[in-house]
Amino acid sequence: MTEKTENKMDKIVSLCKRRGFIFQGSEIYGGLSGTWDYGPYGLALKNNAKDSWWKRFVTDREDMYGMDAAILMNQNVWKATGHVGGFSDPLAECKKCKKRFRTDQIPDKKKCPDCGGEMGEERQFNMLFKTNVGALEDENSISYLRPETAQGMFVNYKNIIDAFHPKLPFGMAQVGKAFRNEIAPRDFTFRSREFEQMEIEYLVDSKNWEESFEHFRKEISLWIKEVGIDDDGVSEHEISDEDRAFYSKRTIDFEFDFPFGKSELYGLAYRTDYDLTKHSDASGVNLIYLNEETKEKITPHCIEPSFGLDRTVLAILSSAYKEDELGGEKRVYLKFVPKMAPVKVAVFPLLKNKPELVEKAREIYKIIKKEFGAVEFDDNGNIGKRYRRQDEIGTPFCVTVDFDTLEKGEGVTVRDRDSGKQTRVSENGLVAYLKEKIQ
Ligand code: GAP
Repeated sequence: MTEKTENKMDKIVSLCKRRGFIFQGSEIYGGLSGTWDYGPYGLALKNNAKDSWWKRFVTDREDMYGMDAAILMNQNVWKATGHVGGFSDPLAECKKCKKRFRTDQIPDKKKCPDCGGEMGEERQFNMLFKTNVGALEDENSISYLRPETAQGMFVNYKNIIDAFHPKLPFGMAQVGKAFRNEIAPRDFTFRSREFEQMEIEYLVDSKNWEESFEHFRKEISLWIKEVGIDDDGVSEHEISDEDRAFYSKRTIDFEFDFPFGKSELYGLAYRTDYDLTKHSDASGVNLIYLNEETKEKITPHCIEPSFGLDRTVLAILSSAYKEDELGGEKRVYLKFVPKMAPVKVAVFPLLKNKPELVEKAREIYKIIKKEFGAVEFDDNGNIGKRYRRQDEIGTPFCVTVDFDTLEKGEGVTVRDRDSGKQTRVSENGLVAYLKEKIQ
């Protein structure tokens, strides 16, 4: 990691805390490693990304079925998929400093990367969070916090087929929390123990898997552009036969140049009929697909585009983070695409102590808020400070009510976040002007 990029990550983490995007989980108790709490702006950004994903991949399509399955699932689900037996990472402990590491992520398995001490023996560490359901703690009451949203969809395959009779190809989509007891959570929210995924299990006739795989490959790239992730920083990494999960016949990782280095953002995998076959065998429930026209019975194969929501937020933040000089002053701003911005418009009276300006600004604020929802009114400090604050949270437009608004009826000024340029816009034309810019 270079000093420059390390620096950028620190600056993003600090901005996220200072401006109410993301905080360390359980901070006042010294934190809980690998957990993060989203504050108002972080939550708004995350929801904007989630809503755009849902629109693009579910509501704008005719072949997708939305789901919201329970996080706690019957333990047999995870036995059938192999998670109980094998959802592990290799772990070893330093004999000297007692720190634990994932041995596939350190340069020398025998030497501690922190203190140089001798590393202990490597063992497999299962990442499932185990719990018990109900009042009895025995073998039968064991359950796990799901480590991926995917299985909530596979186990509902039959329900979707019975309720909707979809034609192949069709998909099930879900957004929700996943939990992994990561050995070494790292790089802010990048590797967390509790995180959100947005996943699709797209079921196809095995003859046509390549067509759907290519379709989602393009869709992922379009989505990356849509949310303002810098696509120059995105690259596709074809996972080799040796490195691929054993059930996958093809996997592409979409990697992003995060400030700490190039790392996985999303995955696209051809999971074959592995999951449906395993669940059918283990549950004894027939999970075949009957083609009503040809009467052919098949087990559908699955193409799985899998998106981490927290990594999406981190990639958006890292793409948007900018420093420049405006009017001779250094500033930091977040260059979000308008639809991702937590606040779309801020409205100010030029001066706080002039009631007539405040009243007019409030009147305009109410109209704009009704239209765009995420709108702030701010009369704290001087106008320069307010601009800087809005720049730091990435608000694309600031509307100021000044004396010309009141005395000459000359409308308001609209300041553009990126250029700092101010344009006079008539009061009547303001909503339409902002609508065009934002949408
Ligand atoms: N259902 C397939 C699956 O879960 P994965 O590659 O393990 O595949 C999919 O995870 C995506 O979930 C990753 O590309 C990443 O965006 C996100 N993800 C995985 N582990 C994560 C973690 N510990 N913290 C944050 N995001 C994570």
